[in-house]
This record gives sequence, C-alpha cells and structure tokens, in this order.
Amino acid sequence: MERLNVGLDDRSYQILITPEGFEGFAEELCRIGFPRQIALVTNVTVGPLYGEIIAPLLQRHGFSVRMVTIEDGEIYKNSETLDSIYTQLIETGCDRHSGLIALGGGVVGDMAGYAAATYLRGIPFVQVPTTVLAQVDSSVGGKTAINHPLGKNLIGAFYQPKSVFINIASLDTLDRRNVLAGMAEVVKYGVMFDRDFFCWLENNVTSLLELDRSKLAHAIRRSCEIKADVVARDEKESSVRAVLNYGHTFGHAVEQLSGYGKVLHGEAVAIGMVVAARISHFLGECSLEDVERISRLLRSFGLCVDPPEFSLEEYLIAMSRDKKVQSGVLKFILNVGIGDNKIVSIDEPGKILSAVLSRGLPCQICSE
Ligand code: NAD
Ligand code: GLY
Repeated sequence: MERLNVGLDDRSYQILITPEGFEGFAEELCRIGFPRQIALVTNVTVGPLYGEIIAPLLQRHGFSVRMVTIEDGEIYKNSETLDSIYTQLIETGCDRHSGLIALGGGVVGDMAGYAAATYLRGIPFVQVPTTVLAQVDSSVGGKTAINHPLGKNLIGAFYQPKSVFINIASLDTLDRRNVLAGMAEVVKYGVMFDRDFFCWLENNVTSLLELDRSKLAHAIRRSCEIKADVVARDEKESSVRAVLNYGHTFGHAVEQLSGYGKVLHGEAVAIGMVVAARISHFLGECSLEDVERISRLLRSFGLCVDPPEFSLEEYLIAMSRDKKVQSGVLKFILNVGIGDNKIVSIDEPGKILSAVLSRGLPCQICSE
C-alpha cells in the first residue's frame, strides 16, 4: 500500500493506493477517527460490485453501515438526485456524528461529496474511487458539484475528503470506454506538468490498455502526486489549480451541447485538449509537432479528438458559461510545448476558435 499526502494544514489527508482489495480500508477509517455510523453512497452499478464487499468488511470492524443508492449516469448528476441522497440520509437517521463514503466514479464522488458538504452543514466523508478518471483526478482535491441544465458542475463546493482509498483492482470490472476516457486526464498531467511522464505514457500505451497492474499503479501514483501538489499550492483555484482544467473549457461545451452523458467527460476533455493545443500553436506557444504528439497519444488510447459539429456560435455560448470567465473575459489554459503551461486571457475567443477548429470529419461517438 502506498500513501501520498495532500498537504492542506488542518484539512490534510492521505491518498492510499493499493493494487488489490479493500483490506486496510477499515483500519484507515479507524486511524483517522472516522464516525462509526456511515452512509455508503454509491450507484446501482457499483453498489452490487463493491458496496456489498465494503459494507460487511466495515461492519466486522464495528462500523454501522447504511446503503444510499442512486441511479447511474451523468444525466442524474442533478438537484433531483442530490435531493434523493438527502432524503435517504434523513430516512436512515444520519446525524451530525455520521460519516459518508462516496463509492464509485466521478459522478458519485462529486454528488456524494456535495451532499456531505451540505447535509447538516457538513459531515465528514471519504472517497473510494472506482474509475480511472476518479482515481487519477476527481476523488482528490475536494471539488464537489452537480450539473445545472445551463452548465456543468455549476452548483458545488470545495469540500475536502478525510481520505481517498484507491483499489486499482476495482478497475477490472470497468468497461473499456470508461477506461479509455480516464486516460485523457492522465495525459493531461503529462502535457501540463511533466514531459518525462508524457514520454513514459507514449512508451507504455499497450501495457496500460491491458490494465497492467504495475504500469497502472505508476500512472495513478504520478497523476495523484501531481494533483496533490497542485491542490496543496492552490486549493480554491485562484492560480495554478486552473491549469488542471486544460481542455475542459471546450470539453465542457462538447458535453453540454451533446447532452450530458452522451460524450463521456474524459472523451470531451480529449477533444478539448487538442483544441487547446491547436490554440497554443496558433499563439506560438508550442510546435505543430507537439500538437501532433498530444493528438497521437490520445488517439493511441482509443480517444477521438475531432470536435463534434456544432456551430461556432453554439460553442461560444457554451464556453461563455465556463467558470473561468471573469467579467466576460475567458481564461484559457495553454500547453507551452509539452510539460509546461500558461494561463491566458482571451477576449475574442470567436476569432481564434474559428481559426483552429477542425474542418475534418465529425466525431464518430457524438454523431451516432
Ligand atoms: P462515472 O462516475 O459516470 O462512471 C462511469 C461509469 O462506470 C458509470 O456507469 C459507473 O457506474 C461505472 N463504474 C464506476 N466504477 C466502476 C467499476 N469499478 N466497475 C464497473 N463499472 C463502474 O464517470 P467518471 O468518468 O468516473 O466521472 C465523470 C464525472 O467526474 C463527471 O461528472 C465530471 O464532471 C467529474 N469530474 C470531477 C472532477 C473533480 O475534480 N471533482 C474532476 C474530473 C471529473
Ligand atoms: N479536475 C480539476 C480540479 O480538480 O481542479
């Protein structure tokens, strides 16, 4: 079992990474003094797979566990589902001395985290991420949210978990499409912060696609190290944390315009990263070869990088709702070569976007 620290003063916590199983999870909850009464929030897919392993394991260690189950999918990441979590918490008698476990991918993690942040003005929670995306990104850093019909993750809070427990073997049951989508966020860390890691990914695509446990462990550990470092430096995203949103401004627009759930978050981010790389090249911050390498690596992970065919105006309206818009000016994250980054203000995004948007074939995933 490996441990990484997320250094946030009195809100510091550890990320535990284990190749196999949930052994050590109950001990970890005891170590951090987690409440004995627990609401285990999961969804209809992950609950039967892992909730039914974790609940008895915790009960054997003297925890009382109540299951809170929600529907599965990004389309349920909304106020109605959040309300159903509150209802189940109230009905099962969760009080201020209860704790919450978020078991699942980023959708469960974000929503359960927001429920923990707001239920009775906040109860402690831990993250048990079970997708690649959640293990390398969403479970770390305390961003919790639900979607609004007008934009993704617009309602939420910064609320740190007390611990993150990553069981890599839980990825064995994850479908291929979601494994690939999660790799987009892994590539993001290399492009933004670590050229060597990017090169390592280029050289290890096949093993990663075969879910080689030790290669996955390296990719997850390095991603979490980078994320933990960024979060420790800028918890509330007033500076460097914004860089983690590389590819997300355009990606969120793709997700919203396609209808939540149609294009997976990681798939949309892959499209957005290549658009961002093209903008970076357009503005002289990286070479065409860098753009091609980023695009090639994402494609080698089976990800489509062609933007779906929405009009420039639709993209611009969707992007104008980005959380990085300040007084009407869009902040855009650029790669500087590969391994470094820069945040720029773009006051006329329409001009740049129309210059860089692909005139190629529409994305196969989105146009089905
Ligand atoms: P997801 O949570 O929808 O999970 C994908 C699918 O895999 C779901 O059907 C889920 O039930 C299933 N699943 C999960 N674990 C499984 C397992 N081990 N075996 C079998 N099936 C499993 O999607 P995701 O990609 O994990 O998360 C996407 C969400 O994360 C988006 O809503 C995005 O906005 C959010 N996100 C948040 C942050 C953050 O910092 N909070 C960062 C990135 C993304
Ligand atoms: N995934 C972006 C962040 O956590 O800041």
